[in-house]
Amino acid sequence: MDNFWQKLKKPILSTTPMAGITDSAWRQICKEWGADVVHTEFVSVDALYYDSKKSLRLLEYKASEQPVVVQIFGKRAELYPKAAQVVAATGVAGLDINFGCPARKVAGHGGGICLLRDIATVRKIVENTINSVDIPVSIKSRTSLYKIPGQANGGSITALDLIDALADLPIAAMIIHGRSYETPFTGPVDLDMLKACKTKFKTGPFLINGSFQTIESVIDDLKYTGADGIALSRSLYGRPWLFKQIRDYLNTGQYQEITWPEIKKTAILHAHLLYENRGPKGFECMRKHLLFYVKGRPDASDLRKELVAVKNPKDVEKIFNRL
Ligand SMILES: Cc1cc2nc3c(=O)[nH]c(=O)nc-3n(C[C@H](O)[C@H](O)[C@H](O)COP(=O)(O)O)c2cc1C
Repeated sequence: MDNFWQKLKKPILSTTPMAGITDSAWRQICKEWGADVVHTEFVSVDALYYDSKKSLRLLEYKASEQPVVVQIFGKRAELYPKAAQVVAATGVAGLDINFGCPARKVAGHGGGICLLRDIATVRKIVENTINSVDIPVSIKSRTSLYKIPGQANGGSITALDLIDALADLPIAAMIIHGRSYETPFTGPVDLDMLKACKTKFKTGPFLINGSFQTIESVIDDLKYTGADGIALSRSLYGRPWLFKQIRDYLNTGQYQEITWPEIKKTAILHAHLLYENRGPKGFECMRKHLLFYVKGRPDASDLRKELVAVKNPKDVEKIFNRL
């Protein structure tokens, strides 16, 4: 097996999977700016099992994105072998299993993070996946969730329990989002828990995720936890150059502020890649990215009306080239 995770220079700078965001165009842009690893959006195991065309489309990628990791989610362990094989057949570098999603449509039915309440199924899922494919299998989860739904005093299941339960399996890498199920997307991350997970997880690189503040602070977090890398998510909205800035800071202790011509070039390239990949119909989702790219400009709110009406890359060029 080609375990690309082992070949990456540490600290590893990665994206995380984000539904509705981390499509092929986004991943190409992140690679352009120095991401070491990129992830797809999460893809339903059930949908892959039943050959859903819409889900198979989520597996499409360009060679320049590699190493690409496809994230899959689902709670039926018996569907994983086929789903994992469908993913591996595309030639992607790795497969990730989601044990962290808090969204009601996933966790509400016992999937995502709530699978941690059924550790036997978690084990079966991971074993079934690892035994079915010849690409490295990683895991993404969160710090914890209450054992009894809604009851703090019933105790918690933590990422440490997850690592213990899977200790004998060759998990290629792990990303832990440093927040709990109960505080899914706000507030600081639990650095002590991330540090403890890093110490406990032995079979591959351990990446921290969540609550990026500044380039300096994320390097402090990396040092504090001893992690092998950082996985970035919402902080990348309109700022894919964070990868280069973090790498520069790691290498030299300095980084350059991004200039408007670079932002403009990135936004226009992003628009072209997205149009190429998803055509006129899928292009609408470029609008939210454009709003992020102009964030912080004094004229950002004046531009909003125009940016939310773009229909193709030419429209984007017209607006950005006059700024
Ligand atoms: C819009 C959106 C979609 C997400 N989709 C996924 C997903 O498909 N799989 C996953 O593991 N996490 C997903 N996440 C969680 C992120 O990968 C990440 O763990 C979380 O945003 C915390 O990092 P941050 O505070 O740096 O944004 C999503 C988050 C957001 C905001």
